[in-house]
Amino acid sequence: MTDPWQECMEHCVEVAKQAGKVIREALQGDIAVMHKSSQVDLVTETDQRVEQLIISSIKAKFPAHSFIGEESVAAGAPSALTDDPTWIIDPIDGTTNFVHRFPFVSVSIGFTVKKEIEFGVVYSCIEDKMYTARRGKGAFCNGVPIKVSGQEDLSRCLVLTELGFKEDPQRFDTMMANLRRILAIPVHGIRSPGSAAVNMCLVASGSADAYYHQGIHCWDMAGGAAVLTEAGGVIVDISGGPFDLMSRRLIAASSGAVARSLASHLTQFHVGRDDTDGS
Ligand code: IPD
Ligand code: CA
Repeated sequence: MTDPWQECMEHCVEVAKQAGKVIREALQGDIAVMHKSSQVDLVTETDQRVEQLIISSIKAKFPAHSFIGEESVAAGAPSALTDDPTWIIDPIDGTTNFVHRFPFVSVSIGFTVKKEIEFGVVYSCIEDKMYTARRGKGAFCNGVPIKVSGQEDLSRCLVLTELGFKEDPQRFDTMMANLRRILAIPVHGIRSPGSAAVNMCLVASGSADAYYHQGIHCWDMAGGAAVLTEAGGVIVDISGGPFDLMSRRLIAASSGAVARSLASHLTQFHVGRDDTDGS
């Protein structure tokens, strides 16, 4: 039987390439920074332009499909996940990196049908690494198969997370306490590359062993989640329970053992959901 979503995936790779080119070109000029929810929530004209480019290109080919895009949601579009074929788009994952020209900047696109992720594409466009994964067909970087490290012992892991300011002092303290607890295990180290999608691809390709975060969004996770699971990784909720794309929290790991162990060291805090209050 032919793959009903093959054409969508091929188009996705093409549009991610075009988006990456626009981002690379924008890096050559001045970057005007605007703010969204806070002083550290950055956005640029390029984020908005690239999202429009991606959505208009996909809409022209697949007019009946639905979209959840970071910048469209910021402009008031709904972010409810339905059973429709849905493209979940982060035009620039790593906007802070983009603004500073720190070289982990990606275009992240996940595609769901009946709320299941069918494929994911993450283009780390400065590194020129195109990560792709189709459900049941494996994960690739520039066409070469990738797989997780398979590490099962948390004390031998390189762990990724985000080191970001939190306005709520209690959340800030919990984030710092979690870091302290993990460093004290001790693990081999903690790194913070600054793009959730790239983080998941680094775990998927065995360059890191685990990634956790509370407070990201479905567009940060959808593309990378496909790559990670197809590379043999495990994705769970921060509690260790089942992963929920709209929950704004995740652990992505090289094995179930590492995911469970990491969950047992993490204290949770409230982050809301993408499909309700978004807080
Ligand atoms: C951010 C990055 C970052 C993650 C943040 C995201 P953005 O995405 O993925 O790594 O920690 O939570 O919001 O804003 O650059 O698209
Ligand atoms: Ca973004």
